[in-house]
Amino acid sequence: MADSSALHVLVLAGGNSTRTRTGGPKALLDLCGLPLLEHVFRAVDPLGAGQHAIVLGPKHREPIEAWMNKAGRHVDAGGQWSIAIQPEARGTGDAVACGLEVLPQEGRLLILCGDTPLLSPETLQTLADQDGDALLTALCQDPTGYGRVLYEESGRILRIVEEADADEEIKQVGEINAGVYVLDIASLRKALAAADNDNAQGEFYLTDAAVEILRSNEGVCVCLEDGEAEILGVNTLQQHATAQYLLRERRLDELMTAGVIIDDPNTTFIEYDVEIGPGTRIHPCTVIRAGVQVGAGCEIGPFAQLRVGTQMAEGSVIGNFVETKNASLAAGAKAKHLTYLGDAEVGERANIGCGTITANYDGKNKHRTEIGARAFIGSGTVLVAPVRVGAGAMTAAGSVVLKGRHVEDDSVVAGVPARPLKPVE
Ligand code: UD1
Ligand code: CA
Repeated sequence: MADSSALHVLVLAGGNSTRTRTGGPKALLDLCGLPLLEHVFRAVDPLGAGQHAIVLGPKHREPIEAWMNKAGRHVDAGGQWSIAIQPEARGTGDAVACGLEVLPQEGRLLILCGDTPLLSPETLQTLADQDGDALLTALCQDPTGYGRVLYEESGRILRIVEEADADEEIKQVGEINAGVYVLDIASLRKALAAADNDNAQGEFYLTDAAVEILRSNEGVCVCLEDGEAEILGVNTLQQHATAQYLLRERRLDELMTAGVIIDDPNTTFIEYDVEIGPGTRIHPCTVIRAGVQVGAGCEIGPFAQLRVGTQMAEGSVIGNFVETKNASLAAGAKAKHLTYLGDAEVGERANIGCGTITANYDGKNKHRTEIGARAFIGSGTVLVAPVRVGAGAMTAAGSVVLKGRHVEDDSVVAGVPARPLKPVE
């Protein structure tokens, strides 16, 4: 039995992404370490809605579908998400009509655009909690580009006018359509069947159908008075940069609340899916990419880049001009200056001298470097992977340790290629 009050979700991403001009789908543009679309999905997840569908255009289907499956948003048979294809981008109304083909006949549908990455789950929940049909609006200092919301004197919604269709007077209206709706599915099916494309863009507008439903079903408009940032739509790369800036600010704020010391938020870039323990201090001009884990009481930067797979245990230090990728530093390990650690494991309290490089890439494959606890890697050492430096071992300044020429525990090597200086005791 179909449940007429059940909430389902439809994300619209069937547009051509013409205004971003990057060639690919804007839904997959990276925003603070996650694709734009993932930010939208994460806002939707907590609603625990019934069925989830996404509308895609034929040319962007393949990359988006591949990413969704990889990211655990399964669109294969029996998966949580269904894909509806919109053969031609004929407007948001047409997109919803395509989406409805893979959704139940009845129920309530939360519709949102795949290009609004700052929407919060709380706002979506507020909209879903309304008794009937609802539209999200926001007051904007600069409403340029959005649909303007017009009301009758009684307060009942009258029209949504797109920028392209607006005259000078309407362009002054500061209340805009955020592009988020909760609408009765049966009413939607009816309204969309009767829709026309008699407007400046020759498109079928979802806004026309939504207004009609809101008017006949006595729906409500939920207005965010301070929501200009939250409803930001990414249509251009300028808006992409603004979204990234705002998300970054949000992320840094969360981290500081959790006890991470950030000296200069203006020059600190920490992506999503990064964990950092309390008391860790981040110096200016530091970049920490998605998929990095940092323990408590560490120190990072200035001018450091921690890339995917970096793990820092408690009290470890990464200093200036250090890049790490797929590298773990055990508790108390230090790499304080001018170093590259890639595919490396650094043991407890090991010290990586200035200018050390793990040469992890032979032109075809990546190889690992293991550095034991308390090892002391002299300045300017090159460790050609795969190679292991034993616990307590030391490399002299300027050593080049060749691949497979493992350095034994507590021994000292020097030179190019590096050779033991004294026998192991
Ligand atoms: C839309 C709204 C506008 C609102 C704004 C909020 C309409 C007509 N306009 O404008 O009132 O202020 O969002 O951000 O709805 N899409 C499709 N198929 C299409 C066209 C678009 O799936 O044929 C998707 C796009 O991929 C995008 C979303 O729908 O994710 C919105 O489309 P977009 O072209 O960005 O609409 P806006 O001009 O931003
Ligand atoms: Ca948009």
